[in-house]
Amino acid sequence: MRHFLTLNDLSSEELNQLLLRAVELKKMQKSGEIFEPLKNQTLAMIFEKSSTRTRISFEIGMSQLGGHALFLSPKDTQLGRGEPIEDSARVISSMADGIMIRTFGHDVVEKMAEHSQVPVINALTDDFHPCQLLADMQTYYEHRGSIAGKTVLWVGDGNNMCHSYINAAKQYGFKLRISTPEDYEPNADLVAANQDRVELIRNPMDAAENVDLVVTDVWASMGQEEEQKKRERAFKDYQVNSELMAQANSDALFMHCLPAHRGEEVSAEVMDAEDSVVWDEAENRLHAQKALLEFLMA
Ligand code: CP
Ligand code: NVA
Repeated sequence: MRHFLTLNDLSSEELNQLLLRAVELKKMQKSGEIFEPLKNQTLAMIFEKSSTRTRISFEIGMSQLGGHALFLSPKDTQLGRGEPIEDSARVISSMADGIMIRTFGHDVVEKMAEHSQVPVINALTDDFHPCQLLADMQTYYEHRGSIAGKTVLWVGDGNNMCHSYINAAKQYGFKLRISTPEDYEPNADLVAANQDRVELIRNPMDAAENVDLVVTDVWASMGQEEEQKKRERAFKDYQVNSELMAQANSDALFMHCLPAHRGEEVSAEVMDAEDSVVWDEAENRLHAQKALLEFLMA
């Protein structure tokens, strides 16, 4: 049995196979082919934070694969009333065939996996968002071919998405530049462990020179709503706009996991430009996660 808590739970070869499988599953779905390897299987989906894309893609993905998805919110389950994660993991995994969880602390998904009899998928924690990277890597591949050997720029907060890009740099073989304001750098241990792939560059305009992909994310993540004003001040020079994109290679793409705030981390112009592939990223959540569900559960 395998879990998917970070990109490091799969080998580089497995991740590349998953990417190709996602492209294939997308073609099959577009051509109307019925493919139901997860018939009679159920994915329990625990959401302790909000979601549009993740919930829709997992729920529709399970239904297209012939299975069923169960939406569980802490508001109406005993999780919200303090039933221990260990106990919940035992109970849920005695009935469901897979567990997907979006929560705050990464230790929660680790604990869930430790006590689960079925595969556990991390659908975002404060530290990592590996499912989004499956979709992002598929999207880059579909537009520009292999990302191996390319240079990617992460601009903004050194957050969960940034951490997953660090793991992706190693697993998919690209160079990653990270440009954050002071005090918003990614986890230092993670950076140190990936020194050969990752470079921190304070000035975003310098960092953007000749990159192949520019990626950003919200300035205040879920759970940081009260820091919004403080963060707007700290991040004001870290907007992805046309001036910044002009530093990148002429065929550079722009990505954002969404939801986005036009006028904050990205200008409306860049968000809605031709090189912005944010809608493909969102759609590919469905196809990439179907490949993941098949890999873990079929
Ligand atoms: N990108 C992403 O995970 O979106 P949601 O928060 O809407 O699921
Ligand atoms: N960093 C963001 C990603 C949302 C998909 C957050 O954690 O809220």
